Amino acid sequence: MYIVYRRAPIHWSHIGSALIIMTVLAVGFFWLMSPIKCPVHAHRQPGSQRSSMESSWVQLVALLDIDICGPSIPKMMGLEGEQVHQSGFGWSPVYVEENLGVMSVGFLLSSPDDAVIWRGPKKNGLIKQFLRDVDWGEVDYLIVDTPPGTSDEHLSIMQYLGATHIDGAVIITTPQEVSLQDVRKEINFCHKVKLPIIGVVENMSGFICPKCKNESQIFPPTTGGAEMMCKNLNVSLLGKVPLDPQIGKSCDNGQSFLSEVPESPATSSYKNIIQRIQDYCGLHQSQEK
Ligand SMILES: *[C@@H]1O[C@H](CO)[C@@H](O)[C@H](O)[C@H]1NC(C)=O
Ligand SMILES: *[C@@H]1O[C@H](CO)[C@@H](O)[C@H](O)[C@H]1NC(C)=O
Ligand SMILES: *[C@@H]1O[C@H](CO)[C@@H](O)[C@H](O)[C@H]1NC(C)=O
Repeated sequence: MYIVYRRAPIHWSHIGSALIIMTVLAVGFFWLMSPIKCPVHAHRQPGSQRSSMESSWVQLVALLDIDICGPSIPKMMGLEGEQVHQSGFGWSPVYVEENLGVMSVGFLLSSPDDAVIWRGPKKNGLIKQFLRDVDWGEVDYLIVDTPPGTSDEHLSIMQYLGATHIDGAVIITTPQEVSLQDVRKEINFCHKVKLPIIGVVENMSGFICPKCKNESQIFPPTTGGAEMMCKNLNVSLLGKVPLDPQIGKSCDNGQSFLSEVPESPATSSYKNIIQRIQDYCGLHQSQEK
């Protein structure tokens, strides 16, 4: 599950009033919003106003990885070996692009293979610190990448951000029943903590042969897949991303799949999904006004 918090702009010091979105999608979302370099951002003073023109072509994205036992974001973003720096304002995120800042427990480990065996209270403390002590600056989206399931991490993030307006959660599944079972639990969890669900994404949804463009099912949806589940539970299906081995490769190399393989059917489905999330957040925001 990925959680996105959004506000335009978020003044992080006023987190009490920040809008929150929980969102999705391993690589897609962050990377799509990141490729436009914005030289203005580097010189922007905290709290300064952006013109509406500027904000229409650049999105400032903060990505927070709270998967404390298996942080994968540093590798995926090509930031392995990076460390966080302290500034007068707190911890500085590590920047992939000028408008994409990342914070992960991975940056605090001395080696990527360090086993992190943290227990509840210590995890909570770290998540709190990530939210309180990281100097994100002014951002449009805060995306929180959570581990699968519903565990300590989910509870703490909801506890610390629950009072703010969270836009919602984007939940990833595969077509198989084992995965759908977990997702039903996550959806239940969201209902319980009153976290809106932006929608569900079905990943590894069929395989489109790169040569013949024929689609086959690697993981047959024995129980109707995400589509049936979404219908039964009355949540939106944001889209289906076909399996593409290049996705894993791009993640391993810390490259953006969307720019590496722009012609892949998975790329267009990522883009559609991102658009739907952005639309949801836009609607959500205008309703609050
Ligand atoms: C594509 O798949 C269909 C069955 O799903 C099969 O009949 C057809 O021959 C396949 N085409 C190619 C080019 O492999
Ligand atoms: C399904 O969800 C929509 C909005 O999310 C809501 O308006 C509608 O009442 C729900 N329908 C049922 C049967 O719960
Ligand atoms: C989605 O599927 C791709 C393979 O097509 C895989 O590399 C990636 O890790 C999966 N993402 C998630 C969030 O499960």
